[in-house]
Amino acid sequence: MKNILILPGDGIGPEIMAEAVKVLELANEKFALDIELSRDELGGAAYDKYGVPLADETLERARAADAILLGAVGGPQWDTIDPALRPERGLLKIRSELGLFGNLRPALLYPQLAAASTLKPEVVSGLDILIVRELTGGIYFGQPRERLVKDGQRMAYDTLPYSEHEVRRIAKVGFDMAMVRNKKLCSVDKANVLASSQLWREVVEEVAADYPEVELSHMYVDNAAMQLVRAPKQFDVIVTDNMFGDILSDQASMLTGSIGMLPSASLDANNKGMYEPCHGSAPDIAGQGIANPLATILSVSMLLRYSFNAVKAADAIEQAVSQVLDQGLRTGDIMAEGCRQVSTAEMGAAVVAALKNL
Ligand code: IPM
Ligand code: MG
Repeated sequence: MKNILILPGDGIGPEIMAEAVKVLELANEKFALDIELSRDELGGAAYDKYGVPLADETLERARAADAILLGAVGGPQWDTIDPALRPERGLLKIRSELGLFGNLRPALLYPQLAAASTLKPEVVSGLDILIVRELTGGIYFGQPRERLVKDGQRMAYDTLPYSEHEVRRIAKVGFDMAMVRNKKLCSVDKANVLASSQLWREVVEEVAADYPEVELSHMYVDNAAMQLVRAPKQFDVIVTDNMFGDILSDQASMLTGSIGMLPSASLDANNKGMYEPCHGSAPDIAGQGIANPLATILSVSMLLRYSFNAVKAADAIEQAVSQVLDQGLRTGDIMAEGCRQVSTAEMGAAVVAALKNL
């Protein structure tokens, strides 16, 4: 029996999670996956329930689980609380405590949605890139970090540290992913300025020796941001640090026209993982039943594939999503002429129906 901890989170989190859980329950039955679900809170919902964005008991449940499925965290009602208790801190803490250093963020353009991108169809059609983001190091966690008053001026600083161990393990994830894809890896850094990036580049070069089949390139992050909109199809796998990966993955997601479609995985050294949509909690549309549940449903597919090696079930869910798009069903964020606009629940029900019939 495998246990999945469900953390719906805030904003649209609970709505999209409800649909993803229906898909997960059906997959469990249909493919005899022997999965049981448990539930808890993270982020603002946890702050409201426990007074902290990640309670110790939740962390223990997460440690004990075989995988975690997360909705999204954050919302304006928690903007004014103590910064140390903000919803985002809960997310950063669970990543760090569970050692989920390897963040996989695919940017895949569904052919049915080519018109949804703000870029020309010829620039993005067939786009399929994977950003591998380091998730538990760098400037997000570096110490010291401080706010102080010096010579009567408020000032603040953060620290951007990387050890060779941290770079080596994320570089390996990048190379491993490239090996099962098109064998091209681009390491993105700022080695013309930052000491941490110089080490990063050095270590990535060393790891490359173990992967002679992979074509490795290096790119400065500013150039990478430019190349991503100029000619995104030149990339296969990108490996980069925590902050650059945060920025570039948002940018890459918009190439596909629909951040509402993209799942992500955050993995530890043993492929235990937390899976979540790439988009946020969208408080502006929360409670309206119009959010796109497909990124969370596709996160279920990623979970089954990476943590449980349930390839058939994962493939089937992706196929069901593709069929629903073929049927012309669209939530508002991906709506196009000639399609039928549906609610969160209708979209979920359509995927369930398609999966049943596969
Ligand atoms: C992400 C988010 C988080 C991050 C925030 C919510 C802390 O932007 O997962 O990309 O910066 O990592
Ligand atoms: Mg982000």
